[in-house]
Amino acid sequence: MGTNRDPRYDILFEPVQIGPVTAKNRFYQVPHCNGGGYRDPSAAARMRGIKAEGGWGVIFTEQNEMHHSSEISPYIELRLWDDDDLPMLAKMADAIHEYDALAGTQLTYAGINGPNLYSKEVPLAPTAMPIRTYTSDPVSARHDQKRHS
Ligand SMILES: Cc1cc2nc3c(=O)[nH]c(=O)nc-3n(C[C@H](O)[C@H](O)[C@H](O)COP(=O)(O)O)c2cc1C
Repeated sequence: MGTNRDPRYDILFEPVQIGPVTAKNRFYQVPHCNGGGYRDPSAAARMRGIKAEGGWGVIFTEQNEMHHSSEISPYIELRLWDDDDLPMLAKMADAIHEYDALAGTQLTYAGINGPNLYSKEVPLAPTAMPIRTYTSDPVSARHDQKRHS
């Protein structure tokens, strides 16, 4: 591949150091959801693995809920609520690493955008206001100084 490539694009195929790691090229898949999330971990791992096989240097997950008080429900995203979620994330990372791509995840705390429809936890946010979602769920966020400190 590449003998007829316009040299303007050569830089895209050169490695770049990002902190302690080096991406093998400049093709960087930013965080994006695909509808599978925690519900379909095998499909999500396969999808990211195919990207790695295709040559992307860096491949991210979608939004990854970093605490059970921070659902992005009703959307199906990834969860990192506790250690039980690690195997599905490792499955995705392994699929990405198989082709020497870097794996990244986007840790997300939804705050006032998270209605917590599944856990029923009170959403925590910088402002104690009704949550802002497309579905206008009747839930209010709480600002809890003690839990923020
Ligand atoms: C289907 C879809 C899902 C997305 N999911 C996320 C996400 O989980 N996290 C995020 O920060 N941005 C998300 N985005 C925004 C993209 O990461 C990106 O910022 C946007 O597509 C613009 O990038 P572009 O100018 O390269 O197209 C999503 C975009 C799309 C189209």
